[in-house]
Amino acid sequence: VENELPWKKSKDSLSLTVPEVENINISKNESTVSITVVGASGDLAKKKIFPALFALFCEGCLPEHFSIYGYARSKMTDADLRNMISKSLTCRIDRSENCEEKMDQFLKRCFYHSGHYDSLENFAELDKKLKLHEGRRISNRLFYLSIPPNIFVDAVRCSSSSAASGNGWTRVIVEKPFGWDSESSAALTKALKQYLEENQIFRIDHYLGKELVENLSILRFSNLIFEPLWSRQYIRNVQLIFSEDFGTEGRGGYFDNYGIIRDIMQNHLLQILTLFAMETPVSLDAEDIRNEKVKVLRCMKPLHLDDVVIGQYTSHKEGSTTYPAYTDDKTVPKGSLTPTFAAAALFINNARWEGVPFLMKAGKALQDRRTEIRVQFRHVPGNLYNQKHGTEFDQATNELVIRVQPDEAIYLMINNKVPGLEMKLDCSNLNLCYAARYPKEIPDAYERLLLDAIDGERRLFIRSDELDAAWAIFTPVLKEIEEKKTVPESYPYGSQGPVGAHCLAARYNIQWG
Ligand code: NDP
Ligand code: BG6
Repeated sequence: VENELPWKKSKDSLSLTVPEVENINISKNESTVSITVVGASGDLAKKKIFPALFALFCEGCLPEHFSIYGYARSKMTDADLRNMISKSLTCRIDRSENCEEKMDQFLKRCFYHSGHYDSLENFAELDKKLKLHEGRRISNRLFYLSIPPNIFVDAVRCSSSSAASGNGWTRVIVEKPFGWDSESSAALTKALKQYLEENQIFRIDHYLGKELVENLSILRFSNLIFEPLWSRQYIRNVQLIFSEDFGTEGRGGYFDNYGIIRDIMQNHLLQILTLFAMETPVSLDAEDIRNEKVKVLRCMKPLHLDDVVIGQYTSHKEGSTTYPAYTDDKTVPKGSLTPTFAAAALFINNARWEGVPFLMKAGKALQDRRTEIRVQFRHVPGNLYNQKHGTEFDQATNELVIRVQPDEAIYLMINNKVPGLEMKLDCSNLNLCYAARYPKEIPDAYERLLLDAIDGERRLFIRSDELDAAWAIFTPVLKEIEEKKTVPESYPYGSQGPVGAHCLAARYNIQWG
């Protein structure tokens, strides 16, 4: 049940006087959603949040009555905000369509309020403005905290007190990072819960909103052919690969405090792993799914340095272009030991997965940009074709690849006979290429997640016990790396990453895909 916190008001708040709206003839049963983007002047708001809201608007997914407020310290007018966000809005529904009219309609519903994140007074001013739009409707409020983590709690304290005068639901989307380790994450959760109930907190991990990550459960649980193979009996190893072909450009200040393990592995890749490995949930209900995800995390042993390789990119010259080293970034402290690459071997100690290595690899400034799940199956026992035709192909095991991005695809590598009179095998793909099969553009992850938050669907958001269990796996190794001041292995910008990653995989008789 939402809204039972003491600062929540009863229906009495309907009688609050807001002169401008009092005369409007609105039914009390109508509801409205006010979406406040806290930190509206920032990078994420511009790049992702406003464009996602616009896309939802274009698709008719936003409620009939809504308004969007940007909130930040920067001094701006409504017109400035509209000008700022219109620069990053594109119509993804149909690029050839003229979306100007839609854009105008959307921008008319965007407003700005300048204020400090720790000022009750400033949030009270925002509250008054929100009420002007809400009128006598049931007022639902969504706050998106798109600000640095050190100001989350202040912003929640102040925005939740302003929300006290709303009479519908209040939800708060909290961006990552949720803490820095187990202790700081628990402290953050405790602090947020002073002002919010767990079911009002929507901890976002945008990877959960990616189409192919969401599809994992459908692939597994609605296709008879996969689920029976989904265990230690048939799967030799699983690889979760995140690779970016650019460095920290511009975000070095943030990144240096966190490093790649906290930035990508502890959240994005681990979330994918839990969806991949969980048992069948009782239902599609958010709690049932999250219960199964937590069980996976609790079956995993904490990581130690023996099973981790870290790296940091160095500069690289290619023709006349010189790609910078991580430490060349002016926002990165000289001599920083922060890893920009990590590889790790994790294990799930349960009946389904015991002994199966789950290899994770994440890195910036690598050769390519891709996120993939690669499932390598075991060898065929007593393979007839191995015995008779000793070619290089005979050793190929089946591999299922789920390419999350770019060029979304699912393909299965199988051994096949090359047509002809001779008995020759090769390895071919059964290929589901999304661009060919589903030509409609895939929504951005933030669209799905924002829509879910408005609808109160929590399935794709992280519950606090999930978060605790995730930090329990990574905190020991993070401490070990930091206490021992472990020096990351260097790798040139644009390469495949440090050699150590291959050695780690080879220890488990695996080659990275
Ligand atoms: P920014 O650094 O751009 O900060 C957002 C806004 O917060 C700024 O425009 C600024 O607004 C205000 N701000 C920044 N620093 C401070 C400070 N020290 N004290 C008070 N206010 C400050 O962040 P992003 O937009 O990049 O990210 C927002 C959140 O989303 C962060 O938690 C980040 O970790 C997370 N995130 C970001 C991603 C991205 O791609 N950018 C990806 C995934 C997560 P003003 O000065 O106007 O108040
Ligand atoms: C963010 C990380 O969470 O995800 C960034 O903080 C990273 O470092 C980004 O670049 C990658 O997201 P996407 O959706 O572009 O793969």
